[in-house]
Amino acid sequence: MTIGQDAKSLTPYPKVRRMRFRFGQPEPMTHLFAEGDIPLTHLIAVLSAVFPPGEESFIRSVRKFSGEITDPVLKKRVAGFIGQEAVHGQQHRVLNEQLIRLGFPIVRVFTFDPGARRERALIAVENMVPRQVHLAVTALAEHYTATLAHRVLGTPEIQALPGDPEVLNLLNWHAFEELEHKSVAFDVYRATGGSEVLRIGLMAGSYALTIPVVGLGVFASILSDPRSWRPIKVARQTVKLVRGPIVKGLLLEMRPYMRPGFHPDDIDTGELLERWRAELFGVRGELVDRIG
Ligand SMILES: [Fe+2]
Ligand SMILES: [Fe+2]
Repeated sequence: MTIGQDAKSLTPYPKVRRMRFRFGQPEPMTHLFAEGDIPLTHLIAVLSAVFPPGEESFIRSVRKFSGEITDPVLKKRVAGFIGQEAVHGQQHRVLNEQLIRLGFPIVRVFTFDPGARRERALIAVENMVPRQVHLAVTALAEHYTATLAHRVLGTPEIQALPGDPEVLNLLNWHAFEELEHKSVAFDVYRATGGSEVLRIGLMAGSYALTIPVVGLGVFASILSDPRSWRPIKVARQTVKLVRGPIVKGLLLEMRPYMRPGFHPDDIDTGELLERWRAELFGVRGELVDRIG
C-alpha cells in the first residue's frame, strides 16, 4: 500500500531539537514547584509521568505503518514526529528523576526501563488490538496534547502563572513541538484508510472518561504524597484550578475532533507557532542555549 500525504495538511516538517533542560539549577526545585499549588503540581507531575511511556507507544503505533510509507513528504514528517516524541520522552524522564527525588511516588509507577516487565505488558496490550486501532488512539491522544498545547501557548494568564521556570520552559517547548507535529499521526491514519467511525467512536468514549481518569490520577498522586495531605487547601486550590485558565472549557475545545471530516489543521495554529518559534528559538530565543 502506498501512503500519501494528506492534501489538507499545512504543517511544516517537525524539527527535532536535542534539548537539555537544567532542572534544579542553580536553585534546587521545591517540592510543590507550581508555587505551592498542590493539585496543579500533581497534575503536572502525573502528565510528566505518563508522557515517556505514552509517547513511546505513539512512536510504536506509527512505526507499524512506516514500511508502507513511500511518499517522501509524509516519510519526512513521520521521521520528525518520531524524533520529537523520543526527545520529549527523554527530557520528561530527566524531570521525572527530580520528581521521584522530591517525593512523587506515582511518577515511579510510570518510570521503567526499555524491556522492563511493565513495558512488555504495555506492548502486549497494544498488540492485542488491530494496528489501526493503536494508531487511532495515537491520533486521538495527539489531539488532546495539541489542544492543551494551543491553550498553554495561547493564554497569557497561563504563561503568567508563577512556578519553577525550567519546568515552564520544558512545557512550552513540548507544547510548541506538539503543535508542529499535530497532524502527522492523523495523516498516517487517514492515508492508511482508517475509518471515521473508529476515530470518532474512540474519541466519544475517551471524552466521557477524561475528567474521571485525570481526576483519579491527580487524586491518587496527592494521596501517595503525605506532604500534600492538606484537605482544605487542596479543595480550595482544586476549585481555583477547575475554574482557571488551564482547565475551564478545555473539554469543549476537544469536541471538533468528533465532527466527520475533521482535520487537525482546521484549527489554525500557524501564527501562534511563528510567534513562539521566535520567542523560543529565534536569534535571542529563550531556549537556544538548551539545544544540546
Ligand atoms: Fe510529545
Ligand atoms: Fe505528540
